[in-house]
Amino acid sequence: MSEAYVITGGQPLRGEVHVSGATKNSALKLLAGALLAPGTTTVHRIADIKDMRWFGEVLERLGVRVDWEPGVVRVTVPEMLGYEAPYDLVSKMRASTAVLGPLLARMGRAKVALPGGDFLGPRPIDLHLRGLEQMGADIKVVHGFVEASCDRLKGTRITVMSNEYPSVGATETLMLAAVLADGRTVIDNAAREPEIVDLATFLQKMGAKIDGAGTHTIEIEGVDELRPVEYDVMPDRLEAATYLFATATTGGEVTVRDMRPRHLDIVLETLEQAGRTLEIGDDWVRITAEGRPMAVDISTLPYPGFATDLLPMATTMLALADGTSIVTENIYDSRYFHVDELARMGANVRVERHYCVVRGVHELTGAEVRASDVSAGAALVIAGLVARGRTQVADIIHIDRRYENLEGKLSSLGADVQRVGAPVPA
Ligand code: UD1
Repeated sequence: MSEAYVITGGQPLRGEVHVSGATKNSALKLLAGALLAPGTTTVHRIADIKDMRWFGEVLERLGVRVDWEPGVVRVTVPEMLGYEAPYDLVSKMRASTAVLGPLLARMGRAKVALPGGDFLGPRPIDLHLRGLEQMGADIKVVHGFVEASCDRLKGTRITVMSNEYPSVGATETLMLAAVLADGRTVIDNAAREPEIVDLATFLQKMGAKIDGAGTHTIEIEGVDELRPVEYDVMPDRLEAATYLFATATTGGEVTVRDMRPRHLDIVLETLEQAGRTLEIGDDWVRITAEGRPMAVDISTLPYPGFATDLLPMATTMLALADGTSIVTENIYDSRYFHVDELARMGANVRVERHYCVVRGVHELTGAEVRASDVSAGAALVIAGLVARGRTQVADIIHIDRRYENLEGKLSSLGADVQRVGAPVPA
């Protein structure tokens, strides 16, 4: 059993907090990109989170040397890489499939465990595989592994839409494969998330030729080789939004620094609709929150829409709102596990198929709850911060996947949050 947070709620948050680099959603993909060039690549602003540690192990199993210092990861990539990403690591962390493209591009061979589903429902990687096949890779799924091989990948035209929406991961896999391919690759209906732009900027610095990242059409002209680089990963927009939702929920006044407000346009709009006052600088946002939030309807969509990862935190805020809100999840099949836990704290939320109806209550009360995934965990921590009495959030290993020192950052804002050892099973 993993550690837990014990939170005594009731204090408004006040002060300043600094956001880390987007390690889970961007740096891991950049470090997969580092496999494309022998030599030493250095990425700065890295948060010390579980996913980074696990991804470091994936890289080491491929023969890469990984050196850490606070905030910095340096990877030394050999001429000859291994080709296998094992199940024990891939099953913990889907992002390890990002090595597939670089291994094919560099070694002509990759064996990567299929990640399987998770708490968010089935999470296939068919679009990644189909795109690589279109580029000439031979792909088989055997004994739970993707086994892929190719001579040099060939540029072609690929679309990465599943149902109505583009896949972030498939867009990244194909970018990582196309930069060393023979000829021109056009990715149609590409995802437009800021992390895609970060990956493109990183690859361009390595010498890749990429146009259109951040739009629906990305064009890549393959080159023969890339060079190692030194790079600062973008700020974590999801972590920044976490402190904004936390303050919007508990009340108080917090300045969130080292962030890019334009990555959170729709979140900032939502917070204003909820009656929170914002002052917005170049790389900071100050939020002031008094009284109950107002009800707001929210619907998740790919960027620049409202990020699915922020839905649970928004739900906690709306659980205390003056009025009824409708919250709709469009990206994943099941993003409502936190709702039952919130209900144990006194929230009035009814889950319908792809939406839930949140009737605001005057207060939440502390309870023992469990984090099912990273965003649900953060949402329960925020609930604990505002609840009357003591809340224990178990399984915070999920929270440690994205957040570095969440308890330290929240405590510096006046919250009472302690990390405690694994609870003894009853
Ligand atoms: C990334 C983010 C995650 C975020 C998500 C959507 C990381 C580590 N994770 O995940 O935090 O919630 O983007 O913004 O960066 N799909 C398919 N076939 C595929 C690929 C995806 O059907 O081959 C479906 C998935 O099941 C899911 C949807 O598309 O329903 C979104 O997936 P995708 O955009 O690929 O998300 P990830 O890259 O896995």
